[in-house]
Formats: sequence, structure tokens, C-alpha cells
Amino acid sequence: MKHFLKETDFTRSELPGLFALARDLKRKRGKKGAPTPLKGETWAMIFSKSSTRTRVSFEVGIHELGGNPLFLNRNDIQLGRGETIADTARVLSRFVHGLVVRTFDHAEVQQLADIGTIPVINALTDLLHPCQILADAFTLAERWGHGKDLVGSLRGRKIAFVGDRGCNVANSWILGANLLGMKISLAGPPGFDAAPEFDQLLAREGFAGGYKFTTDAYEAVKDADVVYTDVWVSMGKEEETKERIRVMTPYAVTKKLFAAAKKDALFMHCLPAHAGQEVTQEILDDPRSIIFDQAENRLHMQKAILATLAASRRK
Ligand code: CP
Repeated sequence: MKHFLKETDFTRSELPGLFALARDLKRKRGKKGAPTPLKGETWAMIFSKSSTRTRVSFEVGIHELGGNPLFLNRNDIQLGRGETIADTARVLSRFVHGLVVRTFDHAEVQQLADIGTIPVINALTDLLHPCQILADAFTLAERWGHGKDLVGSLRGRKIAFVGDRGCNVANSWILGANLLGMKISLAGPPGFDAAPEFDQLLAREGFAGGYKFTTDAYEAVKDADVVYTDVWVSMGKEEETKERIRVMTPYAVTKKLFAAAKKDALFMHCLPAHAGQEVTQEILDDPRSIIFDQAENRLHMQKAILATLAASRRK
């Protein structure tokens, strides 16, 4: 049975099939005969953090696949009052067919997967945001693959991530870029390194040193096909707001910085954005900004992930 806790839970050879499935589900959405592989199933969604895109895209996606989404705010269930992750995994495995989990500590999703008997999807932890990256990669592949070799169209392309280089989206893009054969450069202020846990994971996956880091944003975006940023103050880091804004301001994606990338470079942001901080409103509104395609594709890619994991559970 398959879980999706990190990008590399899909192998290189599985990715073309997954992307093709996302494209197929996108084309068939709302049409007669659209697939319903989750028919008769209930998937629980345990969320410990706020969410717009992830929550709505999973609830809608599970419903469209014929299943029943069961949203559980952590504080509304006994987990919020100290019941263990282990017992939560055992109990929910008796009731539902899969789990979608957004939480702080990555070890929690790992434990739910290890102890439970149903598939677990990581809907964001402090370490990784793999659903975001596969949806982003699909968004790029739609543009570059011209409906044919979706995954192959990403190979050799360069993504530049500027800002908080130690955040979960940056970590996940490092894993994703290495898995997809893309090049990745990151730029940000010194002292905001990835957690040691991430470097260990990267090494375990065989991708140690699989990215370039510089404190010079212009160096990172040179020859980039994509310029990507995320908020400077991730959920849980609010007490560092003032200092983060101070040191990250030189890494804001402005017209000048974006112009230093390739002429036809695309701008991406996982959203929500703070216009005037990590990116200007002008860049968010630029025709080369594909932020809302990214958001929409969360739905289609996650439906493909749900269908794949449900099939793996039935084997
Ligand atoms: N990008 C993303 O995960 O958005 P939400 O926090 O709104 O789910």
C-alpha cells in the first residue's frame, strides 16, 4: 500500500502515469462518465493548520471521485486533547479508507502511515509540501509538454527559489526538482538554512548537494525558466515576523529581479501571497504569472494521487 508523504514516494517511472491521470481527470471533470474510483469510501482530513487551497481542493476532489470527505479540525477530535497519534491511526483505520493530514511535525504523518492500515497523504508539514510541488510541476508540464511528454518537458529546466530557502515549499521543490531532472538554485539571507532533518532526507534519497544556494538573488535567477517564492513568515514562525521581513526584503520578486531571469520565464507562488513583501502586486498580475493555474491544478493532481493510493490499498 502506497502513502504520499514526500515527492519521492512516487518513483521516476511512476510519474508519467500520474501526470497523464491528472490530465485525464482534468479533461473529464464534470463530464458524464467521469471516473469515481473512491465510490463508497470516506477519506478523513485532519488539519492542524489553516488552509484555503488544500482543504477545498481535497474536499472537492474526494467528492468528485465519488468519495465522502470528512474534515476533522485537530482541536475538535481527541488528538487535540492529547490522544496519541498511534491510537488515532489505529482507530481511524477502522472507520475510513484514507487520511489527508496537515500538521506541524513531519514525524506525525510518518507515524500515522507506519501505524495505520490506510493510505496517508501529506497535505503540508513544516518539512515538506509535496502535493503543492506535484501540482506545480504538472502546471509547468502542461505549458511546456504541449499535451505530449509531460514529465519529459521538465527535464533540464531551471527553477530559482528566492526568499525563505528553509521553508517547506523550498525543501519540497529541492526534492521535486531532483526527482524530475530539473535544476534548482535558491537564494536567501544566511542563517535560514533547511532543518538538519531535511539534509538527512535529501542524502537518504540520493540527492545530497542537489541544489545551488547563494545569497545573491540575481545570481540564482540567471537563466531561470521559473522564478518561485513563498511567504517569508510560514505558519508557526509568526514571532519572527519583524526580523524575517528585515533580512528577506532584498529577496523580493520585483520587476527588476524577474527581468534577470529568462525572457519567457514564468512566475510561481504557492499562495497565499503577501503583495509588497515577497513579491510585488505588479509581478503577481504579470501575464507570466501562473499562480492561479497552480492553485487550480492542486485539485487535478490531488485527484490523481487519491485515485492511485486508493488503488494501491485495494491490491
Ligand atoms: N498553497 C497552500 O497550501 O495553500 P493553503 O494554505 O490555502 O492550503
